[in-house]
Amino acid sequence: MPITFDQEQKLFHLQTNNFSYYFIINEIGMLQHVYFGSPLEEIHLETLLNLGMDWSKTYFSSTEQKEKIYEGNLYTTHSLFEVPTFGYADKRISPIIMETSIDHKCDFRYVSHRIYQGKPSLKGQPHFKDSKNEASSLEVTLRDLTKNVTLILTYSIFENSGVLLRNTTLINNTNQSIFLKKVSSVTLDLPKKELILTHFPGGWSFERMVRQDELSEGIKRIVSNSGRSSHEHNPFFFLSEKTSDENQGDVYAFSHVYSGSFEAEFEVNQWGQTRVNLGINEEEFSFELKPNDIFDFPEGLLAYSSRGFGHLSRQLHDIIRDHLIKIPSMELKEKIILNSWEGCYLDFNTEKILSYIDQAKLIGTELFVLDDGWFINRNDDSNGLGDWIIDEAKIDLKKIINHCHDLNMKFGIWFEPEMINPRSNLYGEHPEYSVGNLNIDRALSRHQFPLDMTNPQVVDTIFAKMTAILDHYDIDYVKWDHNRSIDCAYSSYLKERNGEFYHRMVLGYYRLAELLTKRYPHILFQGCASGGGRFDLGSLFYFPEIWTSDETDPIQRLFIQYGTSYMYPLISVGAHVSKNAITSYATKGMIALFGTYGFEFDPNTLNEKDRSELNEINEIFHNYHQKVIAEGDFYRLSSPFTSNHFAIASISKDKSLGLVLFVNLLKEPREYRFLKIEGLDQNKRYYNSFDKQIYSGDYYHKIGLNFTRWFNEFEAILVILKEVK
Ligand code: GLA
Repeated sequence: MPITFDQEQKLFHLQTNNFSYYFIINEIGMLQHVYFGSPLEEIHLETLLNLGMDWSKTYFSSTEQKEKIYEGNLYTTHSLFEVPTFGYADKRISPIIMETSIDHKCDFRYVSHRIYQGKPSLKGQPHFKDSKNEASSLEVTLRDLTKNVTLILTYSIFENSGVLLRNTTLINNTNQSIFLKKVSSVTLDLPKKELILTHFPGGWSFERMVRQDELSEGIKRIVSNSGRSSHEHNPFFFLSEKTSDENQGDVYAFSHVYSGSFEAEFEVNQWGQTRVNLGINEEEFSFELKPNDIFDFPEGLLAYSSRGFGHLSRQLHDIIRDHLIKIPSMELKEKIILNSWEGCYLDFNTEKILSYIDQAKLIGTELFVLDDGWFINRNDDSNGLGDWIIDEAKIDLKKIINHCHDLNMKFGIWFEPEMINPRSNLYGEHPEYSVGNLNIDRALSRHQFPLDMTNPQVVDTIFAKMTAILDHYDIDYVKWDHNRSIDCAYSSYLKERNGEFYHRMVLGYYRLAELLTKRYPHILFQGCASGGGRFDLGSLFYFPEIWTSDETDPIQRLFIQYGTSYMYPLISVGAHVSKNAITSYATKGMIALFGTYGFEFDPNTLNEKDRSELNEINEIFHNYHQKVIAEGDFYRLSSPFTSNHFAIASISKDKSLGLVLFVNLLKEPREYRFLKIEGLDQNKRYYNSFDKQIYSGDYYHKIGLNFTRWFNEFEAILVILKEVK
């Protein structure tokens, strides 16, 4: 069992092939963190936990009415904790805050624990799954010192993974309401400072840029407050040593399985310790738990590698593919898509779409997606959301679908389920279904309001409207959009419980997503939020791919896809070739290949050369994409953020095949340079399509391909590597 408990030392050890995680139950029943790092068999608590601050070990005993000293290595102000207190001696940022009429403190002490095979699942919320019972879990039950509030903390690990999942449940066993003010899914105390924080800020059309800041004394706080994980920040972070890089060094990752507003806090104190909390954004959060109510925190994720960012990303990609995302069928997932949006926006009719489908066939399209604009009153973006009735005067959906099928193509369609236009029929009937106080002015965005997803009736209404379409048409793919952030927060349904608004909006989204994905297990869902505004582990649980960004310029995409790759596997990264930008279709195709691959343009506008370039990339897609990119291991070779080159590689799991993409940014004169390739088997020999030679994996790794030549702006080279026996 990779989880053990040493009764004598009261020491828990969670061990995988990638890390050891140790903590103890200390002499007053707090869970005290000991170690998170490379696998370690030997622990000497006496020396390891000794902080030498004797003043911090003293306390005044209430029973004995005198000053006493904690015997063990418990320093009330500075020890490292698994569930740090609020309102006791530790003044660092607290992960959990609750208000009650008894007091406003949180101080959870050990009651019992159990170790078991398997992993808990979370009702109504996304979570990592363990359908084969491979995980091991440690569940610790704690009780607050002054109130009958129970906290159940569960840690789950998979033997071959560097990931640790953390589930927290809080139960109000008092006879009065308590109000949760802050809930962090992840909390970690590290006995180190001088750490580098890697985070992924951005905005619409430039999501998930890579930023690195050195943490120093004080608190750094990164939040999303737009009701979704957001374009501006993404809820995943890395902390690393200054010397860590792609291929070596300690790196820690943090995320949670959640799509709403979040907050991440990083505090470095004067003793050189770092605390990390990550959870629901505490602004505008006040969740009432009545007696016996239970609150499940979103699932938290911690991960560690001693082998650099690249290794940690591959660990994350593996666990997300194996235990989070559900793919209806690989056959459907690996179809080449053409989406209508950037080709015709809302301006189409049946004839136009039929011509798209015919032309799309010539470039190997296997799944045609009709984006926004197919429902009533949707000739501009100011109307129609909420109604979901086919505009029969504009399109003949049956004819379109039949035409796709005649050409052996699948058909997909766009929805934006969580939104309403005030000009829609639904709004006319139920204005109270929209978010906000109807008696005061409310901010519009793209002429729309969010629907009040906290209200089950709203979720049921939208579900019924969507099933009326999905039940009656042969649809294999749904693009699920979300085109504005949430503000003017108020639900007329929640009334006095509006402190729960933002979290309940997310739970409503999850309920609708669950109802639909369960009813249509054969449908491939693509998530989207004006591009990548809701690219997070919560959404990926329901939708195995997400539209990465509305920016489809391939050079801009290099940066977006590079940042996204730190956490999310390429199989989930929606990427299409568009009309955008000056590069050739071949270059655009190569870049989209390192995502889901597909097209997003008017196929009538292509010439013979464009078509033949795309058909060449299609061939590579069909021959290699699934094995090498969708299911393989990903390597970042050169960062466009810190160099003039973008270079990445994907290697099949059996290390027999590889694809390498190199894109030059600004024009660069001839220079003696080599592209080293990671991830191949050192002892195997590989033919490469660049210089058409055969070298060993060792040679590709240590010397690489000779790239000494003149490089023009945005010149791209795709190298195919094949094992030669
Ligand atoms: C969002 C999406 C686009 C497209 C439009 C349709 O902006 O990101 O891809 O679907 O909505 O309105």
